[in-house]
Amino acid sequence: MLTEKQLKILAFSYTDYDAIICDGAVRSGKTSIMTVSFIDWAMRRFDGVRLGICGKTADSAIKNIIQPYLIMSYPRQRYTLKWRRSEKVLEVSQGKRKNLFEVFGGRDESSSALIQGRTLGGVFLDEVVLMPKSFVMQAIARCSVEGARLWFCCNPDSPEHWFYKEWILKAREKNALYLHFVLEDNPSLSEATLRRYRQGYSGVFYQRYILGEWTAAEGLVYQLPEDAVTDYIPEYGEYYISCDYGTMNPFSIGLWCVSEGVAYRLREFYYDGRASGRQLTDEEYYDELKRLAAGYPIRFVVVDPSAASFITLIKRAGELRVKRAKNDVISGIRLTAGLLRQGKIRINPSCKDSLREFKLYRWDEDSGTDRVIKENDHAMDDIRYFVATVLSGRQFSYPSHRADSV
Ligand SMILES: Nc1ncnc2c1ncn2[C@@H]1O[C@H](COP(=O)(O)OP(=O)(O)OP(=O)(O)O)[C@@H](O)[C@H]1O
Ligand SMILES: [Mg+2]
Repeated sequence: MLTEKQLKILAFSYTDYDAIICDGAVRSGKTSIMTVSFIDWAMRRFDGVRLGICGKTADSAIKNIIQPYLIMSYPRQRYTLKWRRSEKVLEVSQGKRKNLFEVFGGRDESSSALIQGRTLGGVFLDEVVLMPKSFVMQAIARCSVEGARLWFCCNPDSPEHWFYKEWILKAREKNALYLHFVLEDNPSLSEATLRRYRQGYSGVFYQRYILGEWTAAEGLVYQLPEDAVTDYIPEYGEYYISCDYGTMNPFSIGLWCVSEGVAYRLREFYYDGRASGRQLTDEEYYDELKRLAAGYPIRFVVVDPSAASFITLIKRAGELRVKRAKNDVISGIRLTAGLLRQGKIRINPSCKDSLREFKLYRWDEDSGTDRVIKENDHAMDDIRYFVATVLSGRQFSYPSHRADSV
């Protein structure tokens, strides 16, 4: 069963619009129905034409668009589908009619070069706000086949975002059909699932991903729930250490225990070389790391990926395993904020510097895009490294649903 708004996506190809833009809440049924509609439209309109299917990266487009499409029963009954993996091309045929749908990644350098040489009958740009504008402009410029149309899909971002200003606000001027989605537009989501999604986001991400609003990131980055501070210490669990490295800037390490779906920050060490008037050496930092780890079976230490010398030192000592942290700032913050809200990250009251930074860590409101002020962010960074590297992708980090969430 499709909702009225989803039916409008299907009806788009029978209208005179040149483009369609669907934005709004997560999991509201935009991508899946747009894929069906895009391919149906192309199969009716063209024969022997190449079209583009673009995601943030080619891999995410394959996972979020191609793979779900290949297992739907509707297209399999209607078309012969051939996924040519090495070329990243989906060949769709119906009788003698055949079109090629090539996958590109907006953030992949190889895709930018590749798409420049193509002539396309249309492009579907999923997660368009996550792509560089230059890529999107290039993709649009390649659509020179007579009758070509543009298909855009995204979750909201800042109202200063170029896509919002140039396409959503100017939809009429561009002869684009604009459809805005809320969670209720997907009839397949149960009450329990809706509840889980609502609990999974907080602050600006709640406004964007749940309410579907184009909102600027303002104020404090994290709202720490009252019960997030606890002196409870689990008896068992998996132990990790996370590290944000600095010599002039503060150095912050935290000891974590993940137990029964909750991550507890048990203790921390925080050192501000500038404020203390003396810089510590890497060896002295390593001694502190060992002190924090003492008595715990540490699985690995997650380290600031730019701290090359410190990573080498830990490796050379051979006592602790090291992992370079995933460092996509915004998706790491989104995940951390969601888990804090769900009570899945707890902080011991002894972690005074984390608790201080939680009250100070702010969005940069003048930047016009999602950017944090790079102050009071050292424990914040080590916490984000831990979350993005250790907690991301686990069942309890639901709803980080997308293939490339973190
Ligand atoms: N009408 C429907 N009936 C059954 N299942 C649906 C319907 N609409 C969407 N779905 C399913 O709901 C899930 C979410 O849909 P989809 O991925 O299209 O959402 P989205 O709006 O693109 O989400 P996001 O913003 O997170 O990318 C998919 O598994 C999809 O197959
Ligand atoms: Mg989608």
